[in-house]
Amino acid sequence: MSTLTRADLTVHTPAQGRAPWWRQAVIYQVYPRSFADGDGDGIGDLPGITARLDHLAALGVDAVWLSPFYRSPQADAGYDVADYRAVDPLFGTLADADALLARARELGLRVIVDLVPNHTSDEHEWFAAALAAGPGSPERARYIFREGGGETGEEPPNNWESVFGGPAWTRVRDRADAPGSPWAEDGQWYLHLFDSKQPDLDWGNPEVRAELEDVLRFWLDRGVDGFRVDVAHGLVKAPGLPDWAGHVSMVEGAEDADDTDPESPALRSPEGHHAHPPMFDQEGVHEIYRDWHRVLAEYPGDRVLVAEAWVDPIERLARYVRADEMHQAFNFAFLVSPWHAPELRDVIARSYRANDAVGAPTTWVLSNHDVVRHASRLGLARTGKGPNGIGATDPQPDAELGLRRARAATLLMLGLPGSAYLYQGEELGLPEHTELPDEARQDPAFFRTGGVERGRDGCRVPLPWEQDAPGFGFSPTGRTWLPQPPEWADLAADAQTGRPGSTLELYREALRLRAGLGLGLGSMSWSAEHATSPDVVAFVTTGAAEVLVLTNLGDADVALPGGWSALVASGPLGSGTDGDAVTVPVDTTVWARRI
Ligand code: NOJ
Repeated sequence: MSTLTRADLTVHTPAQGRAPWWRQAVIYQVYPRSFADGDGDGIGDLPGITARLDHLAALGVDAVWLSPFYRSPQADAGYDVADYRAVDPLFGTLADADALLARARELGLRVIVDLVPNHTSDEHEWFAAALAAGPGSPERARYIFREGGGETGEEPPNNWESVFGGPAWTRVRDRADAPGSPWAEDGQWYLHLFDSKQPDLDWGNPEVRAELEDVLRFWLDRGVDGFRVDVAHGLVKAPGLPDWAGHVSMVEGAEDADDTDPESPALRSPEGHHAHPPMFDQEGVHEIYRDWHRVLAEYPGDRVLVAEAWVDPIERLARYVRADEMHQAFNFAFLVSPWHAPELRDVIARSYRANDAVGAPTTWVLSNHDVVRHASRLGLARTGKGPNGIGATDPQPDAELGLRRARAATLLMLGLPGSAYLYQGEELGLPEHTELPDEARQDPAFFRTGGVERGRDGCRVPLPWEQDAPGFGFSPTGRTWLPQPPEWADLAADAQTGRPGSTLELYREALRLRAGLGLGLGSMSWSAEHATSPDVVAFVTTGAAEVLVLTNLGDADVALPGGWSALVASGPLGSGTDGDAVTVPVDTTVWARRI
């Protein structure tokens, strides 16, 4: 280690000046249909969430991000919005949304809502008007309608694939509602990067820009603290919609993207395709976020924009959080990192470098409603992003190993300065439901890939609150829209409360310490002793006090360095007897303070 200087070891120093709340916030994602059900129909709702908000206050998070609860036919679980200003009756009413915001405020929790600007539902009044008005109309100009290719327009306008599988274009006359309608003979196609029920808006149209800005104001006026922006990198497409042969999958981005130059959005591969997907990360998106930044800045209280953008490399993603654009972007590179010390160190260091260069906080995330839960992902033979869902006949994760690593990964993440995102249920150590029957599945990705991708339902199973209640207390009737595994009784929130060593108590303790020690705003340096270790990630973070965070990813115990005393650990530590050092077992993280 003698070759490493102090400067080599320093990874991050916090930005100077006033720190708005979101620079260090721990933000908890609520997926409304699966959090808590108030009315007994088996689908979670806003009153259900409000009634359980004290669980989140007791957990110690700073803010809640709510996935969409707007009026929607639920073709993509609410990411298909039919009315951006209305609450879907499944979830309640606008008054229920106001009540939720008021209760959150009472509990000191901020609230971020989801904004889905790339596409609407095909049941949005604009799309209905576009179908009815026909080709060439101003109504169609709000979306991306085009004539087809081939002799008679029978080919889609280009070769783009939907992220959910199958073509990204649907011909108007092929829609299920075409027979007998005025568009029964209509030969135009419309673009949908996701399901055919999610037509893409045309962001070149000023009417679209004005409308979504108005939607921002609608929710800002109601008191929300910010927006998580869905598919933030997708709004603007390359001019001419050029062919592109790659496939884009969610969270980690394009599988064959080889664009490493952050300033070259239109590199061509040797085959002549855009190496950089022409549907994503186009320069024009940044102007939109500069406009939105100005809108948020008109409101008091440090409102925040969070980008959901699957953009590689990290330096390119950092362009979304330049000082006059968004405030945060999800760090999916961290989420998809294999359980491997050098790779984790690399992604952590690169994340700080890229975000610090633009003055933005780095964020951390391990799970969300689109990926296999990390308590299962980290128990797979190959760690990393993992498959899109797991089925009963697929290789199964090692549940014990997965949970042990998940707890270690979380404690590592929460020790890192910056802002962290938690996904509902991870504080209970919930695994993925890997044995859902196909009949129960609802994710459009399952249907559009003919079941090749199992889809995301396995991470969306309703939460277990009470071990002895029907449906584990998710709903007053015991109904749940997806079946819960019986083993979840032991994982219910009430079963874990006050149980020493439970995952819930670990999260509570870690969040309490993190806040008390000011870790979110700390500086961060690698521990010299472990800086190039193949097995250990270890760093010292300095907020209100110095804390050593050490994760053992190797296959043998590691000694806790002398001069440090354990504060919290993700699993039992080996006790130092007779002057021997305390040891950190495999797949365990410890936080320690100077003695
Ligand atoms: C990302 C969301 O997280 C995901 O759930 C959704 O299916 C797509 N965007 C499309 O809106």
